[in-house]
Amino acid sequence: MKLCIVGGGGFRVPLVYGALLRKQESLGLEEVVLHDIDDERLHRIGGVLDGQALEHGHELPFRTTTDLDDAVEGADFVFSAIRVGELQGRVVDETVPLSRGVLGQETTGPGGICFALRTIPHMVGLAEVMAARAPGAWLINFTNPAGMVTEAVQQVLGDRAVGICDSPSGLCRRVAAALGRDPAELWFDYFGLNHLGWLHGVRGTDGDLLPQLLDDDDALATFEEGTLFGGEWLRTLGMIPNEYLYYFYYAADTVDAIRESPASRGAYLLEQQARFYAGNGQGSAEALAAWRATRHERERTYMAEARSAAGIDGVHQGGDPEADNGGYEGEAMAVVDAIANNTRTTLICNTANRSALPFLDAQAVVEVPAIVGRSGPQPVAVGPVADHAQALVQSIKAVERLTIEAALTGSRALAVKALALHPLVPSVTTARDIFDEYRARLPQLQERFG
Ligand code: G6P
Ligand code: MN
Repeated sequence: MKLCIVGGGGFRVPLVYGALLRKQESLGLEEVVLHDIDDERLHRIGGVLDGQALEHGHELPFRTTTDLDDAVEGADFVFSAIRVGELQGRVVDETVPLSRGVLGQETTGPGGICFALRTIPHMVGLAEVMAARAPGAWLINFTNPAGMVTEAVQQVLGDRAVGICDSPSGLCRRVAAALGRDPAELWFDYFGLNHLGWLHGVRGTDGDLLPQLLDDDDALATFEEGTLFGGEWLRTLGMIPNEYLYYFYYAADTVDAIRESPASRGAYLLEQQARFYAGNGQGSAEALAAWRATRHERERTYMAEARSAAGIDGVHQGGDPEADNGGYEGEAMAVVDAIANNTRTTLICNTANRSALPFLDAQAVVEVPAIVGRSGPQPVAVGPVADHAQALVQSIKAVERLTIEAALTGSRALAVKALALHPLVPSVTTARDIFDEYRARLPQLQERFG
């Protein structure tokens, strides 16, 4: 098997490599290629991977390249986690809406729309390279905003593009722990779009366990989503939302909290990551240690602005950031394993709806449980959901589709329409102002939206 990682100089690549070291045999891995447009980043991450292989006691050979055709040629799986415009772009995505009192976040709200506008053309380009050089390959897409990006590349790759996110599986694992159950024994009724989903049932042999969890404030206080939303609001909803729904349900609170914080998430990461990548040239053991320390700090501070808005002290209760098989790489490996070994495992992934959510059309990419085997993900029927969740999913799907079309056509009118119709943007004037400032500050948008 040949596996190619596009965005191979990215900070989370060692997570994937660590998982590959453990899975090398069961996957029959023969070749791992890391592609990036930045040779220095590849070199820095390569040092970390060498450190991991040394520590692990055996090697999984990999090579690095800046030639995309060479990287993709004949691959069986292509992982993609790229950040078009890098963290400087994320800073712009987040700060422009914030200065107008609107949420500034990586994937939710205007920030996610802007991120998608510059990312989608590149991702469709990657899909075209795959179609030409590796027509049998599967795209395992981490590139955010993962839902929109996956829907856009499905225009080229169809079901061979699968979108991945660690948030839903993390929620399910945390809920199982709060219930004192083994997640493998439970069925999780989760539905929605990427970063816009809800858990509305947790089935064990003894029926739906969610109502008893919602009634138990002590159990809710043991995990991230329980503390973030609070028992009262969770009981009102009768479901547990994905943590990203915090930005909708507590929009004004988060804007206030982000404006009070010393730096946006993007600005914090820009500085933190620059420090890490500047260590190029260190030996592999030091590179690995520096990567671990940086990662630890990143996980501890994840979603800090939402926690501060909710008045919660302390770090993200998402589990142990040092643990193996964490959400991110765990999800990716599970999908690869399920396809390569035809395991027919149930995984929550981003895939074409078919008829899982009856209120969306068949091509809409949704985030739902799917049975994954050799022929890819087969989404499971979800059935009726709460009206307010259905309405929000439909609104955001419409915004996503306008964004995809805007990105592919370079139409300012469509981009402004997407922004203005987003429920977190309060006015058409604000949408126009946000777009025009985005375009003024981002070269990728100037090029496309002239
Ligand atoms: C989670 C989400 C990802 C997102 C990341 C941001 O893992 O599922 O989609 O990119 O958080 O984390 P960061 O440390 O970059 O703020
Ligand atoms: Mn995600």
